[in-house]
Amino acid sequence: MLPAYVPNSAAVVLGGGTPIDGGRVHEDGRRLLGDGKTYRGLVLGILAGVLIGCVQLLVQTGDFPEVLPLQTPLSIVTLAAGALLGDLVKSYFKRRRGMAKGEEWPIADQYDLVAGALLLTLIAAPSWVLTYVTLPVLFWILVLTPLLHRAANLVGYSLGLKDVPW
Ligand code: CTP
Ligand code: MG
Repeated sequence: MLPAYVPNSAAVVLGGGTPIDGGRVHEDGRRLLGDGKTYRGLVLGILAGVLIGCVQLLVQTGDFPEVLPLQTPLSIVTLAAGALLGDLVKSYFKRRRGMAKGEEWPIADQYDLVAGALLLTLIAAPSWVLTYVTLPVLFWILVLTPLLHRAANLVGYSLGLKDVPW
């Protein structure tokens, strides 16, 4: 899941600038996505996820399930891109619910990247998901993701990179 986890943090550090929605407003009068979703965060975030995935491609060895799932060039791209696309979709629904940028939406804020990454990978590389995302793997993804998410956001907040510690 590293290529899916890294893009969120990378977007916080490297993001900013022109928002993807271009400031456009939905018919409900609220922003389509909001100022927190930028082109720079999306593109550089995905690149950072792909980069960590390339490191995994270089160092990984052995056979699943003795080792962790093995990345492929396709899986690192779909995990990284899916994570931030899931984040975009979540923000779209946050705005539709009338929630401000940065407002906490429990469950959705933590699992958007998991849903996005696994769904996009399921579409693009179904056999990868069926082979590697076994029930125990899925269990640990669901347990570890909120913990990692919280830890990363606390670090981001204390470094002054994020406005809120979630
Ligand atoms: N970010 C970005 N581009 C993205 C995703 C994130 O530039 N595609 C940056 C923004 O600076 C954003 C920060 O990372 O403010 C934190 O991301 P996130 O928590 O996902 O966004 P929020 O600002 O909390 O907005 P939302 O309420 O829509 O989740
Ligand atoms: Mg947020």
